[in-house]
Amino acid sequence: MEGNQSKPKLHSSQLYDNRFASLVQNVVHAQKEDSDDPPPHGKTSFTNQLYDTRFASLIRKAKNDGKVMMSDSKNDSQNVTRNSAEMDEDPDIVEDVDEYDSNDETFSFNVNRSFSNSGSTGFSAGLGAPIKVTFEDISAAASRISENEGIRRTPCSKSVNMSNLLDMDVFLKRDYMQVTGSFKERGARNTLLMLSEKEKRKGVITASAGNHGLALAYHGNELNIPVTVCMPVNAPIMKVQQCKLYRANVHSIGADIIEAKAHAMILADAKDLCYINGYDHPYIIAGQGTCGIEIHEQVQHIDAVVVPIGGGGLIAGCAIALKHLNPNLELIGVESDQSASFKAASDAGVPVSIDVNQSMTLADGLCVSKVGFNAFSNARHLIDRLVQVDEASIALSVLRLVEEEKCVVEGAGATGLAAAVAGLLDDLKGKRVVFILCGGNIDTNVLGRVLDRGLAADGRLVKFTVVVSDRPGGLSDLVSYISSKGAGIKDIFSERAWLKTSIHTVRNKVVIEVRDFHHGQEIRNGLAKMYENLVWGNEPVMCGSVKSLKTMTR
Ligand SMILES: Cc1ncc(COP(=O)(O)O)c(C=O)c1O
Repeated sequence: MEGNQSKPKLHSSQLYDNRFASLVQNVVHAQKEDSDDPPPHGKTSFTNQLYDTRFASLIRKAKNDGKVMMSDSKNDSQNVTRNSAEMDEDPDIVEDVDEYDSNDETFSFNVNRSFSNSGSTGFSAGLGAPIKVTFEDISAAASRISENEGIRRTPCSKSVNMSNLLDMDVFLKRDYMQVTGSFKERGARNTLLMLSEKEKRKGVITASAGNHGLALAYHGNELNIPVTVCMPVNAPIMKVQQCKLYRANVHSIGADIIEAKAHAMILADAKDLCYINGYDHPYIIAGQGTCGIEIHEQVQHIDAVVVPIGGGGLIAGCAIALKHLNPNLELIGVESDQSASFKAASDAGVPVSIDVNQSMTLADGLCVSKVGFNAFSNARHLIDRLVQVDEASIALSVLRLVEEEKCVVEGAGATGLAAAVAGLLDDLKGKRVVFILCGGNIDTNVLGRVLDRGLAADGRLVKFTVVVSDRPGGLSDLVSYISSKGAGIKDIFSERAWLKTSIHTVRNKVVIEVRDFHHGQEIRNGLAKMYENLVWGNEPVMCGSVKSLKTMTR
């Protein structure tokens, strides 16, 4: 790793974003002294350098409200209550890092602290320099993590079906085939292996709702390093259970990942554990970059590589690796339009917080409100194109992968491919394009719903509302027509009480399965000729020769 200014030799415990260390120190100081005074300036050593001003203000606020305690309770279940409006009111914290003074054991610096009300990014000038991850870091990580097959070298082969569908040579890097179902293992294992013996004994901590927590728990267990994972209370039960099976100390806490993270940071400080950020720690970035090296080795003459973006760790690592090995390839980052935090950062020139809501996106793994400081600064100049995709395209991408490739990929993992499925990469037709399928952890019941949305997006699952005669035979006419056309009825719901049409009519909400969009249109046109008041999807259908309800009521 290279610092941008002087070049501190970082010890593994010395995590990367010097901004956060002092913020945590501020919280700890305030708690210990029961005072809100800023901590004394001066030279301080940190083993847990945390990084996000939003958390600092959250922790401080919660502490002031008496909602966060310095606790080491294993079954600590108190919630940190966060109110984003309150958080926004908090002054940003501005720090100036005066000096890097490193040795093998500590990463020390002077911190000048001041509080200001200007800006909301916490990224004011004078903050510590991001840590540069180099190709050598990634190459070293590659040999480190592949030792004894700690990390699988996943396949990256051409998909005949997807190539035909998208009219390009599609190569799929199947990193959902890692043991815990995602690429996150690469960074997790690399970081754990870089810990000092002392740190390995003490253990590490993280906050995660999913893949990073699972990866850290699994490799911690493999390497005999204690792992604590703070998971929001709404984290998928399957993932919570799996982390426990890997013998992680799981704290279910916080309404969302932000609150879980605040708790993790306090615990990190209280127990002197290394906090490992899942996308911004330089060793995490270096580990994720090994995926890029493998892609380069597995596919010849690559024109473009398409990478989903959450906090930015995967694309940062892959960008460094791939652009070093092949500067001519095009690197394309894809985000969900529900969490386009990399775009926001690119527009602003620095990572900024945006509003995101995990429940509003199928790509929950990408739902990060602010991209990583190190990840952004390492990746931004290497990314050639940034694309945002909508939810329907993500669902369609998951569906295509199930149908064409017989593989289960979660929304986040299918987001890169979604850009092509949505037609946003049509200029790559005829080219050799690699898509990273980076995760496959999706709850079975969620998968069913995502596939339904995919079918809807594909025009193969359609809904309509139609008013038909409520006399004998009325409904059967409708059903007979649909079956005569070879479509299947999935759902039908009849409603009478709220109708304002003839008392002898019934409104039916119908969901049918059709072969494709054109088949759906054929049925739509046929029904429009038979019935008034046909509403297809959400749109009323007006068709030339419409049979009147009077004639229908026999
Ligand atoms: C399956 C999957 N894909 C992609 C990402 C995005 O990775 P990053 O946060 O490093 O950008 C994540 C993050 O958790 C993920 O779980």
